[in-house]
Amino acid sequence: MARYLTFSGSRREGSFNTTVINIVSRELTRSNLQVTAISLDDYELPLYEQPTEKQLGLPEQAVELRNLFKQHDGIIIGCPEYNGILPPLLLNTLTWLSRSPEGQPDLSVFQGKPVLITSSSPGSLGGIRAAAHLKSFLSGVGCVVYPEMIIVANAFSAFNDNGDLTDENLGRKTVATIEQFHQLTSKISA
Ligand SMILES: Cc1cc2nc3c(=O)[nH]c(=O)nc-3n(C[C@H](O)[C@H](O)[C@H](O)COP(=O)(O)O)c2cc1C
Repeated sequence: MARYLTFSGSRREGSFNTTVINIVSRELTRSNLQVTAISLDDYELPLYEQPTEKQLGLPEQAVELRNLFKQHDGIIIGCPEYNGILPPLLLNTLTWLSRSPEGQPDLSVFQGKPVLITSSSPGSLGGIRAAAHLKSFLSGVGCVVYPEMIIVANAFSAFNDNGDLTDENLGRKTVATIEQFHQLTSKISA
């Protein structure tokens, strides 16, 4: 049975992207699928720079995250939008994941890995520009990025007090996208 790793690229309290990731994690759990939901709060990493890597090696948190990527069949990432691209926290985390303990490039955690991208913002485009940048990044390092993304626009009114989507159509589309992503992941990991 496929296993999923979910995380948000925002550590902000009340984060819209974490809210979407929580919806996805709940839906996967409701479908009796195995989910490991993590917070990047628990994987704090220094700003990636080559001299820092030379000095510190691969931080333990990056080693743990790399292992989590390897141990799961599908990854779901919540991508906030900062100035039209992905935020520094997410880019920094993914950059560390692209390095080996020996300080060499190592894209093995990404290669052939199915990824579903979600994004939410208060704007009317819901972070789709950042999601597209993330899709390009992840495809470039070898992930199998699911073509449909879960985009939640107008975030201030998009969720009810339970953290569910207020728009029923979007709710149904979200469930369908998760199911289709699961089918793809199951085929790839079979
Ligand atoms: C530096 C910065 C740049 C931002 N740029 C955009 C943007 O380009 N498009 C957008 O829709 N929202 C933008 N926002 C608003 C974010 O979408 C909003 O702060 C959102 O709540 C961040 O995601 P989170 O709720 O998961 O933390 C920006 C916010 C910050 C702090």
